[in-house]
Amino acid sequence: MYHAGIIGTGSYIPERILTNHHLKEMVDTSDKWIVERTGIRERRIAAEDETNVTMGVKALERAIENSGIHREDIESLVVGTNTTEPVWPSAGGHMANIMGLRKDLPFFDVQAGCTGFNFAFSIGEMFIKGGQYRTVAVVGTDKLSAITDYEDRNTCVLFGDGAGAVILKRTPHEGIVRSHLGGNAKSRDLLLLLKKGGAGNGYIWMEGRKVYTFARRAMVESCFRVLDPSGTAGKKELRALFEQVTKIIPHQANARIIMGAAEELETRLELPPGEAKNKMIVTIEQYGNNSTASIPLALDISLRTGKIKKGDLVIMVGFGAGLTYAANLVRL
Ligand code: ACO
Repeated sequence: MYHAGIIGTGSYIPERILTNHHLKEMVDTSDKWIVERTGIRERRIAAEDETNVTMGVKALERAIENSGIHREDIESLVVGTNTTEPVWPSAGGHMANIMGLRKDLPFFDVQAGCTGFNFAFSIGEMFIKGGQYRTVAVVGTDKLSAITDYEDRNTCVLFGDGAGAVILKRTPHEGIVRSHLGGNAKSRDLLLLLKKGGAGNGYIWMEGRKVYTFARRAMVESCFRVLDPSGTAGKKELRALFEQVTKIIPHQANARIIMGAAEELETRLELPPGEAKNKMIVTIEQYGNNSTASIPLALDISLRTGKIKKGDLVIMVGFGAGLTYAANLVRL
């Protein structure tokens, strides 16, 4: 087994801002309700000619620049996304063409709801650890505004658009420690696309409360599993492992889910109040839930603003349609 690490990050968010005040002109809602129930104040919405592909390209170009590699160095491209139109061929191939990546580059999309980035990341990790490639680009990019029903107040206040990317490379020392991937296929009907009028892929529909409950529990479970893959550690040992973690980058779906998961971590590990909460990176206020982009976007912003530094041990943990959940434990 080889070691793999993150050597560069990049992100892109569209210019247009959709605030809670704009939304209350569109559906029966209020800034107060949205802020109190979700933590979101605004989200970014892609322009008509922007897609998951064009946003992914911009994020990946920034990650390439940040890592100092040449685009020809990339040996494989793995894209977590849910909003490719038409659904095939993949967004990855389209991105490779636009960017002029290697002619024989293998590329593919991973569709695992909002957990798509964590899954794609784990595939990139395995490619490098297994010795198949030395340099892999992993992207999370989604244009959720294309599948959001702006007449449905239950969902439209939550979502936004964006993209994030990381460059993974074979490294002399351990960077990516491990990943944990999970699923609950029996709950697939809790979060899906429903056709409205028969056009396109349909719009996001969900049983919000049930997804909320699942998400909180699944994120805690995945944090534990990525720290203790065999599930044999006692509470004290698990708490010691958790204490080594500098920051947690959760999927930005709802600030209450994030803080709820932190509370559960504190209860189950008998941590002082605030210890897990203080580790949580929260960017949802400005960007809402932009699906596969939310974790790499938060990672990139946190590195650029110094909230996270090289050498930190971080957990990236997410959940999403499927239902799926996953975590990646990484020494930056
Ligand atoms: N403005 C005002 N009132 C609203 C709004 C709104 N935007 N949306 C719902 N309400 C109302 C409901 O109609 C309900 O009214 P009622 O009691 O008269 O029926 C009331 O508010 C409470 O509704 P709840 O659903 O109980 O509210 P809750 O506190 O659960 O918050 C929310 C709803 C924000 C959707 C929450 O359940 C949630 O975040 N769930 C998880 C969502 C999620 O993360 N989905 C994952 C997507 S990931 C992916 O793969 C795309």
